[in-house]
Amino acid sequence: MSLSMANTATPVRRNADAPWNRFSSHDYWRRNYFELQAEDLEIIRLVSNFFIDAFDGCPQARRSIDVGSGTNLYPALLMLPWTERILLTDFSPRNVHWLRHQLATDGASWTWRPFWRALQEAEGYKHIGEPRKQLREACVSVPGCAGIERRSVFDLPEARWDLGTMFFVAESITEDPEEFRAAVADFVGALKPGAPFATAFMSGSDGYPVARRVFPALPITPGDVELHFTELGVSKLSVQLLGTKRRVREGYEGMIVATGIAGDR
Ligand SMILES: C[S@@+](CC[C@H](N)C(=O)[O-])C[C@H]1O[C@@H](n2cnc3c(N)ncnc32)[C@H](O)[C@@H]1O
Repeated sequence: MSLSMANTATPVRRNADAPWNRFSSHDYWRRNYFELQAEDLEIIRLVSNFFIDAFDGCPQARRSIDVGSGTNLYPALLMLPWTERILLTDFSPRNVHWLRHQLATDGASWTWRPFWRALQEAEGYKHIGEPRKQLREACVSVPGCAGIERRSVFDLPEARWDLGTMFFVAESITEDPEEFRAAVADFVGALKPGAPFATAFMSGSDGYPVARRVFPALPITPGDVELHFTELGVSKLSVQLLGTKRRVREGYEGMIVATGIAGDR
């Protein structure tokens, strides 16, 4: 279903209606990132190739942002070779706590190792000897610019970051098409003109369970994503529906990866 066909007569759950302060970080991580899934592997390949091309012959970005990090560190790992500093953000206090704990802990096993292995031979990534340590250093707090902060996508400052990622956020925090569009626009707006970005979306999602609660989602299509980024003046836009058929769960049609360069406003 495209956004233009969405049934506006049904009451929708908006972002403020969902219990983000009761989001179970552990359950979300367990369901999605306990192990490397085939769809994530395809995303990692697409996005790393895009960043390798985007930064070919260019200096590192000074500051990067991942919006709505949840319990997913691989968007930050994808940015690691291309940036000096990273800000991880989420609206859920529990996820912010989970992110701080993840980066501060130095146990023997690192659950993101399989994700890094998928990257470690690639150009740029192969020069990073200690990704876990380097990620922690990239996320040292510089208030408002880098670190780990509780922030809403709807309250980001304009034109502050040189590189950005936002995975499964705009369409997975609301059932309201206007909020979806606002989240995408605010993410792009937080990037400086010329900043490369990578985003991922669920296509056709009807919500997702986290520890017995169902969180809202909007059933978007690749066409919705393409139209909106085009309206936002993004250049070098690529919108792809993943080819991988194996699904993480039921209740969605596929995953979309969109990459591009933020334009002038
Ligand atoms: C489906 S999860 C995606 C998490 C992660 N990026 C991933 O790739 O799995 C949606 C995330 O958006 C966060 N979120 C909800 N409302 C938000 C808002 N207004 N601004 C930023 N993040 C929000 C949630 O706490 C949750 O971590």
